[in-house]
Amino acid sequence: MTEMFRAGDSDKLIVRNPATGETIATVRAYRPAEVAPLIEQAETARLDWAGRTAKERALLLRRWFDLVILRQEDMAQLITAESGKPLAEARGEVTYGAAFIEWFAEEGKRAYGETIPTFAPGKRVMTIRQPVGTCAAITPWNFPVAMITRKVAPALAAGCSIIVKPAEATPLSALFLEELAQEAGIPAAVFRVVPTTDPAAMGSLFCRHPLIRKLSFTGSTRVGKLLMAQAAGQVKRVSMELGGNAPFIVFDDADLDAAVEGVLASKFRNAGQTCVCANRILVQAGVYDDFVRRLSVAVNALPVGDGADPVTKIGPLINSDALDKVVRLVTGAQQAGARMETQAPALPATGHFHAPTVLSGVTQDMEIARSEIFGPVAPVIRFSNEAEGIRLANDTPYGLAAYLYARDVGRIWRAMEALEYGMVAVNDGILSTEVAPFGGIKESGVGREGSRHGLDEYLNIKYCMLGGINR
Ligand code: SIN
Repeated sequence: MTEMFRAGDSDKLIVRNPATGETIATVRAYRPAEVAPLIEQAETARLDWAGRTAKERALLLRRWFDLVILRQEDMAQLITAESGKPLAEARGEVTYGAAFIEWFAEEGKRAYGETIPTFAPGKRVMTIRQPVGTCAAITPWNFPVAMITRKVAPALAAGCSIIVKPAEATPLSALFLEELAQEAGIPAAVFRVVPTTDPAAMGSLFCRHPLIRKLSFTGSTRVGKLLMAQAAGQVKRVSMELGGNAPFIVFDDADLDAAVEGVLASKFRNAGQTCVCANRILVQAGVYDDFVRRLSVAVNALPVGDGADPVTKIGPLINSDALDKVVRLVTGAQQAGARMETQAPALPATGHFHAPTVLSGVTQDMEIARSEIFGPVAPVIRFSNEAEGIRLANDTPYGLAAYLYARDVGRIWRAMEALEYGMVAVNDGILSTEVAPFGGIKESGVGREGSRHGLDEYLNIKYCMLGGINR
């Protein structure tokens, strides 16, 4: 057991392995009153940080990236131990997370302003882009590294300072990231990680502290709305990556083997615990039975177990509440007429495991099709024609990611345009990358992470007008 808690600290957070239930570490937990002075330090430190050249900040970020890559294996082991994610996925997450640091190290050097043709003789019009200020971030347990780097790297590259509250379940990877950032030479006060046992009070502090100018949150829509309401009190800038209810549409001209592969990648990644996981598999009537049969064969072959075991493809859910919710949704769907198409494998005796599952005969009105499942369960819904498929796909308050499989170019284009989502993947089950803007519409959030747009979230545009030119 790692003992990171020091005598005299005010509070402690116990970290458990969701595959075994064992305690793996105890870390210092901060109370909001202890974080308020750290916000003041971050505000002081950011003035020096913002005063450095973008190139200098980029150099330090690049060093941080190199260290994360160098320690990839240690970080992956930590991710698996505290989140339960299979080791191969944890290694992938480190590469994915580090890529945001590399990307924004470069992008920070291109925070260009502009000159605008003037509206009057003797006047000149231009814009400059300046760091937002001291920021706060609240990050989830399902990607304990990547969801931090995709907020922290653009913030630092832009010249902001940032304080991160990691998820209660996964503070270890966050603290390791912080340690490597300091080793790279990034000042401690500009990027700090503050685990807590009181997330609601910490969120409230971030929203009400006058020095915090921006809050970035990844998590549930319910909590996102609460934070937005609190942040409105000071009109703070917010970025919100919230829940999803992703449709995965298989049209009758799709390559079915490719579509099965796509569902495995999208639905079963991290045991179904990502906000872009396919949540409803919508399959056109002509290929429905064949598709359900093929998908069930593939899902029955997914090995379930401790993520530390190299053969594991499906690890545990994060905690017993998550498991109870998935069990309740599956039972409710079966009671409403859905059919279990997969066999129940023997599950490990400890931990919060759920069998990878395919349900056929699901309809749009069932709770399982209306809720974000966050588990390894694929509910398959039948639709008859293109218009009905799109209508069902859009019939949700969420609008994060959507997937579609088809060959007809006209149909692909029509569907891409008609889907009310922030992201659409065609003939592929994975769309996350540092080079593209990740984010949702409707109740899935506001703002974008990754790509050049991710930097804008941490910059203000200032319009400067220069008069008296002709005098
Ligand atoms: C998330 O689940 O919040 C992020 C998933 C991703 O970046 O792919």
